[in-house]
Amino acid sequence: MIKANDVSLIYQDGTKALRNVNLDIKPGELVYITGPSGSGKTSLLKLIMGMEYPTTGNIRVLGNSFKKNNTGKIRKIRKRIGPVFQEFKLIEGRTAFENVMIGMRFLGIKPKQMKQRAHESLEKVGLGHKKLSKVENLSWGESQRVAIARAVARKPALILADEPTGNLDYDNAINILQLLKSFIEKDTSIIITTHATHLIKDEQNATFIQVNKGEITVDRRGKSYEKLSV
Ligand SMILES: Nc1ncnc2c1ncn2[C@@H]1O[C@H](COP(=O)(O)OP(=O)(O)O)[C@@H](O)[C@H]1O
Ligand SMILES: [Mg+2]
Repeated sequence: MIKANDVSLIYQDGTKALRNVNLDIKPGELVYITGPSGSGKTSLLKLIMGMEYPTTGNIRVLGNSFKKNNTGKIRKIRKRIGPVFQEFKLIEGRTAFENVMIGMRFLGIKPKQMKQRAHESLEKVGLGHKKLSKVENLSWGESQRVAIARAVARKPALILADEPTGNLDYDNAINILQLLKSFIEKDTSIIITTHATHLIKDEQNATFIQVNKGEITVDRRGKSYEKLSV
């Protein structure tokens, strides 16, 4: 599903965000990317989404490799990704429902089906009663749920969620993680970044990837985060 070979990412100002990264993520996998602020978690997701390109090395996502300037191919891969951005990127002045609909543009779905999916996904995230609220009137947690609904309405093969729990209190943060996990299927993988490792210490069947200063320092499957860190 995702294969990265010796990928490095150096930003234009010379910042070495990622070094010699190798990844092999399979369909149906739940992956947590942990690491302190500035370690390269968002950069890694940007590479997977084709928002950045490797400076060296290569990355294959859903059977395709991103090639700079090949917008046709990038669009094709992105159609199968459901991103949940750190800052949501919801469109103000529009309702929750409209935002979820906008997320399905360009997927080639019939309007009737789009509406049905938008209703369904907003129900699934527990926001059926806020469908017609303008997004700027929603709380942080509600906005996060709209962003999740927008991602899953796309029925993506890969869900990417960047720090989806933000600064939510423990119970609400766990609820958001549970919600995201409910969308894992045989062919749907999900990658969640978080700096809050206490939220995932009891997680059992996941892959834990730890990033530190742009390097992957841990990449293990199936063990709880707690066991892995001792
Ligand atoms: N567009 C950019 N240009 C230059 N440096 C960047 C850019 N985006 C991120 N960085 C730098 O790359 C490093 C990794 O950042 P990031 O991937 O956002 O880390 P994290 O998500 O783990 O907090 C940091 O030093 C950050 O300042
Ligand atoms: Mg980040």
